[in-house]
Amino acid sequence: MTAADELRARYVDQLRREGLLGADELVRAFRAVPREEFVATGFDGGDGRWLGPDDPDFLPMVYRNHPLVTKLVDGVPVSSSSQPSLMAAMIESLELRPGSRVLEIGVGTGYNAALMTVMGARVTTVDIAPDVVERAGAALRRVGLAGAVDVRLGDGYLGVPAETGYDRVVVTVGVTGVSPRWLDQLAPGGYLLAPVEHAGNHPVLRIRPGARGMAGARGELRAGFMSAAGPLAARYPGAHPPPRRAAAFPPPTVRQPARWRPPLDVFRYHDLWFAVGAWDRRTTFSAGPAGGWGGPGGAVLLDEVHGGGAGLLADGSVRAAGPYAARYAADAIALRDRWVARGEPTIAEWTSRLVPAGDPDQPILVPTNWIQR
Ligand SMILES: C[S@@+](CC[C@H](N)C(=O)[O-])C[C@H]1O[C@@H](n2cnc3c(N)ncnc32)[C@H](O)[C@@H]1O
Repeated sequence: MTAADELRARYVDQLRREGLLGADELVRAFRAVPREEFVATGFDGGDGRWLGPDDPDFLPMVYRNHPLVTKLVDGVPVSSSSQPSLMAAMIESLELRPGSRVLEIGVGTGYNAALMTVMGARVTTVDIAPDVVERAGAALRRVGLAGAVDVRLGDGYLGVPAETGYDRVVVTVGVTGVSPRWLDQLAPGGYLLAPVEHAGNHPVLRIRPGARGMAGARGELRAGFMSAAGPLAARYPGAHPPPRRAAAFPPPTVRQPARWRPPLDVFRYHDLWFAVGAWDRRTTFSAGPAGGWGGPGGAVLLDEVHGGGAGLLADGSVRAAGPYAARYAADAIALRDRWVARGEPTIAEWTSRLVPAGDPDQPILVPTNWIQR
């Protein structure tokens, strides 16, 4: 057994112990596919180092439940191997059967396509970046899956032109809406999973075509993703504001105390955040401790006109700044308490119809009217 095999076995056991890897076929796939082959040109170590296979930290970092950023442009992550537990949860949500036809948007490293292929799916995967496609193709060759995965270069907005009959479409890059082409390319009874921007975050939605060309979405999973390029990232009127950097916020002048001790765990906090975003279009994400607002980053109600707004932390406390700080703080508290009064709905309890938005020549379908089921 090599060091990589040993670390992979431990990683699978750890994911199973934490309840992050369920079905037997998924466990077998995670055991069989060597993740290190898919990040062989290295990844961002997060501390200024680019970690390649010769670095002693390479394998231990490959076999942790962490995303690995494999490409940066001007310091911005544009390609990665997603977090393993998130890939596992998305694959479970795809309910694959042997022979299922899957269209993946965002080849990235090719690791996710390899996992689905080893589970018996027939995978076509598309990426917009030629270098990414080339590296993923090389990795798939090294692990003996070259002929089994159909890797394409192109804008994922188009899906695979002139193809239909996919049982599932899985989008592995953050989008502001879904492409109508994907719905056209689905087989009858098929559905798609996509991380669609909502309140500055990218929760995964399950989307099904409906009657008279109308599609419907429901919340599926909490998730974070990097943003797509092209029409899939179009901004549209009425959307939540894009995420803000913490540095954009003045120090808070209003502070409201915690409601929960201990704070909500990450899953419940994202449930709260989703609901706040469903009810209030001012909601977005602020990374890092916003101007002393505290917390690692999370939901804010943004005052785009006057500056400032209110941050809602995982313990239910509120920090607000700007000329309307008191009003924003009161709104954040009302939204928090409404979530509690509604029975603390999870992400999976929300549904919305999708409507066209963005460039009329390359429209995307977006959820605009979330309703608690
Ligand atoms: C998070 S990575 C995908 C992870 C991947 N499935 C894996 O297993 O490693 C996102 C990928 O989406 C690609 N991408 C961004 N915009 C795209 C678009 N419009 N069409 C297709 N791919 C796109 C990026 O080049 C990047 O490689």
